[in-house]
Amino acid sequence: MELNLQGQQIAVIGCASGIGRAIAEAFLAEGCEVAGFDRLADAPFITAGDVADPAALRAFMQGLPRLDHLVYAVGVGSGLTGFPYWNVPAERWSAVLEINLIAAVRAMELAGPRLAAQGSGSILLISSVAGQIGSPTDPPYSASKAALINFMQCAARDLGPHGVRVNALAPGMVDTPLNRRIWAASQQGLPSPQQQSFEDWAGAKIKRIAPLGRWQEASEMAAMACFLASEHARNITGQTLNIDGGQVMH
Ligand SMILES: NC(=O)c1ccc[n+]([C@@H]2O[C@H](COP(=O)([O-])OP(=O)(O)OC[C@H]3O[C@@H](n4cnc5c(N)ncnc54)[C@H](O)[C@@H]3O)[C@@H](O)[C@H]2O)c1
Repeated sequence: MELNLQGQQIAVIGCASGIGRAIAEAFLAEGCEVAGFDRLADAPFITAGDVADPAALRAFMQGLPRLDHLVYAVGVGSGLTGFPYWNVPAERWSAVLEINLIAAVRAMELAGPRLAAQGSGSILLISSVAGQIGSPTDPPYSASKAALINFMQCAARDLGPHGVRVNALAPGMVDTPLNRRIWAASQQGLPSPQQQSFEDWAGAKIKRIAPLGRWQEASEMAAMACFLASEHARNITGQTLNIDGGQVMH
């Protein structure tokens, strides 16, 4: 299938590693121009900056000469394991909400009116299965991802009449640095006989939670991101696409 994305301008926020990196590279391979923003600028197309710094994020967004599609892929956890939820004190929530949700709102405050004025384009927010199911892994992470889905739906209603689509991706388990941090947090405080290697922990977890029983790959998220930006997806807005081996079925 031809996606016909050549020459389109994509902004990918959170693209130095993992899913955001795969998405940026997939758009580059489609012949798009990609402008990235990340704490780590390890490629020529990435501007270094922290999404928790509103001025830096605003300067990046306002400095884009053109914008056709925005992808917000930054996501962080609290670094604690929420079994039960009071293991993550309320004081630890605001940093997670700021980066996973509020910074996405800031980027969209600039992208939305701009895309609406040009009457075309799309926005993709990277949420998580944790935002669909109230995952106990990390409650502030889970709640921030649920809020991102809800905000995506608000934005899809506002921007739809202007010809702009807004969707979310909910990845399952993708082997990225983020998932390794979740494993590290899960092992903290366990007596050594109960500790598991990342491979054992992840292998058992994926078989337990997903009918297809296998890991998701960042390239699968990237393929969906490119499809959603294309004309083939012109009637898809306000949707959360679960790419998770069947873990979530709604
Ligand atoms: N890996 C998974 O299994 C999984 C599952 C579901 C959802 N997700 C979501 O996918 C997205 C990408 O996650 P990933 O697994 O690729 O993680 P990752 O840690 O590999 O990548 C996150 C990127 O965001 C950047 N970043 C983090 N904080 C930042 C900040 N304050 N300012 C600027 N850049 C910042 C990092 O430098 C990194 O390049 C996240 O939103 C995450 O919540 C991941």
